[in-house]
Amino acid sequence: MKLLENKVVLITGAGRGIGRVIADQFISDGAIVYANDLNEFEIDGARTICFDVTDSNALKAGLMSIYKAEGRIDCVVNNAAVIANQKLGMVTKQLLEKMYQVNVFAVIDMIQTVSRLMARNGGGNIINMASVTGVVGSPGQVAYSASKGAVIALTKSAAKELAPQGIRVNAIAPGIIKTERFEELYEASGDKIDQRIGRIALGRLGTPQDVAFAAAFLASDRASYISGHILGVDGCATI
Ligand SMILES: NC(=O)c1ccc[n+]([C@@H]2O[C@H](COP(=O)([O-])OP(=O)(O)OC[C@H]3O[C@@H](n4cnc5c(N)ncnc54)[C@H](O)[C@@H]3O)[C@@H](O)[C@H]2O)c1
Repeated sequence: MKLLENKVVLITGAGRGIGRVIADQFISDGAIVYANDLNEFEIDGARTICFDVTDSNALKAGLMSIYKAEGRIDCVVNNAAVIANQKLGMVTKQLLEKMYQVNVFAVIDMIQTVSRLMARNGGGNIINMASVTGVVGSPGQVAYSASKGAVIALTKSAAKELAPQGIRVNAIAPGIIKTERFEELYEASGDKIDQRIGRIALGRLGTPQDVAFAAAFLASDRASYISGHILGVDGCATI
């Protein structure tokens, strides 16, 4: 039997980057994958379901359509996020609001709604995408790191609150992962990436596949006694 055989999973922000590789991994591990993003896209072996996670009505309708089709939802990966680097003096209230709407409020909305559906079927598990910046901070990422710190805190609280319903809630805190977004943020800004790699004990950047393997483990029954955990996938950069 495959690791995630027949588990019904929704992955948000799966149109590209880490979310897309998580979707591919979950499919190869036997899951029934619903891949979400803002705009239409295709992914072999998955059903795509497009909505903006900050649109509460669309989010609820999306979850209900999965629930009606499959009879249950076993796992949600809250991966969609807005990411921007901005020095403290340049951070605007508009950016903060946008970042919190996607990275924090939508995650709470998703957990509220899906936990009710999971409870009907005796449980499930939720994986939130945090970041090392939410653990150790990062210059130029005050807004982003604050939102990811909130993801870490809400993961722990939701894990405690939902445990009696058989629902596990964990988060992954990736380090620097080489995605399209990475290219946009770091290489375009001329950031000295060699210096950053020098601070990573394992001596390399992470890959989306590194994160996907961690997500597959947390989503699986092998992690059935793990909840409220923040799993660093960072090449030993934070200790
Ligand atoms: N790449 C890294 O180095 C890194 C490091 C730490 C944490 N993370 C986290 O991993 C996750 C994925 O990162 P990535 O690098 O693949 O980012 P990405 O920007 O490539 O992908 C994010 C996806 O989310 C989608 N999205 C954004 N807003 C949405 C919304 N309102 N509704 C639905 N979908 C929406 C985007 O369209 C995009 O496809 C994020 O939560 C990010 O914060 C990434």
